[in-house]
Amino acid sequence: MLLLAIETSCDDTCVALLRDRPPGAELLAHRAASQAVHADFAGVVPELASREHMRLIGPLLRAALAAARLDLGDLEAVAVTSGPGLVGSLLVGVSFAKALAYARRIPVVGVNHVEAHLAAVLLDERAARPKPPFIGLVASGGHTEIVRVLDWGRWELLGATRDDAAGEAFDKVAKLLGMGFPGGPALSRAASSGRAAAFDFPRAWLDLERGGLDVSFSGPKTAVKLFLDRRGWPERPVDPIERARFVADVAASFQEAVVEVLAAKVLEACSRTGVRGLVVAGGVAANPALRARLERDAGPRGVTLHLPAPAWCGDNAAMVGMAALHHLRRGERSRYDLPAVPNLDDWDGFYEAAR
Ligand code: KG4
Ligand code: ZN
Repeated sequence: MLLLAIETSCDDTCVALLRDRPPGAELLAHRAASQAVHADFAGVVPELASREHMRLIGPLLRAALAAARLDLGDLEAVAVTSGPGLVGSLLVGVSFAKALAYARRIPVVGVNHVEAHLAAVLLDERAARPKPPFIGLVASGGHTEIVRVLDWGRWELLGATRDDAAGEAFDKVAKLLGMGFPGGPALSRAASSGRAAAFDFPRAWLDLERGGLDVSFSGPKTAVKLFLDRRGWPERPVDPIERARFVADVAASFQEAVVEVLAAKVLEACSRTGVRGLVVAGGVAANPALRARLERDAGPRGVTLHLPAPAWCGDNAAMVGMAALHHLRRGERSRYDLPAVPNLDDWDGFYEAAR
């Protein structure tokens, strides 16, 4: 089975070509474009994102086909992120996928973005594959969800953020510190030379002792803002060396607050459910401090940790294809009137058995 996969749920336009090779897949080509138009606005502007997807998706598909020496006639199925995400962005990918699939009379498969992030862990052929059931955390700019995966493609929500997503909180604190958008990677780079115990920012434990698995990151972010105001930032410190050290310490201390809560919550999810496998994915899973903390704490708790390669943590189409293959192998496909579903709460699969 030769599969085209498309991801346009936020501001990355991505296409991938994969050949099904159970239990994994062979990635034949991947093409992605991050949209530069949002930099001036320090955040994703939904209307601009949809327009950029429209402009980029055709040329990216052509480039991927050329790289794999294939043409449209070779495609046997089309997978696309159909939710959750920005509705205008999702609509571009979903409409493109449906039109292509319908014209060529091949199946279209709508993929849940959270499920796709978790499937990124299967893209490294050499890594040990997690066996369901396992606990999954997807932490990105738009998501912080803890799920129990019963089987690939079948999962239930155990906890989520009550306010900001983990990546969104990283981006907002990075912006306060004068870093560009998205600031998560820059903040984590600055944090690597800072002291995690320099400043004590609050953790929102939200009833961890009683197993509360929801998280909240707007408190720590506001605490950083108030702290910076009190210290006279951005006017002070004036000395450049002192300034760089201050930024590194704030970054490391804030990062520590997020990492500590995320690690504690996923390990609590494992012990409450008695599930031994853990997959942590999404853009924030590229964060070295989070990876190191999970690697340190999982083993002693009897938990086997699986992390996607950092390059596959952020949005990409290879993970969408990988997730779709599980549905296709079970004979599931979507209808040609597959909707874009912006909210996770409204997601209910939209699959039907192939006729
Ligand atoms: O998965 P992703 O590419 O897109 C969404 O689905 O949102 O995640 C992007 C998010 C951004 O908020 C970005 O700042 C954050 O992941 N991120 C990081 C790191 N790399 C990316 N946050 C903290 N540390 C990192 N190293
Ligand atoms: Zn994502």
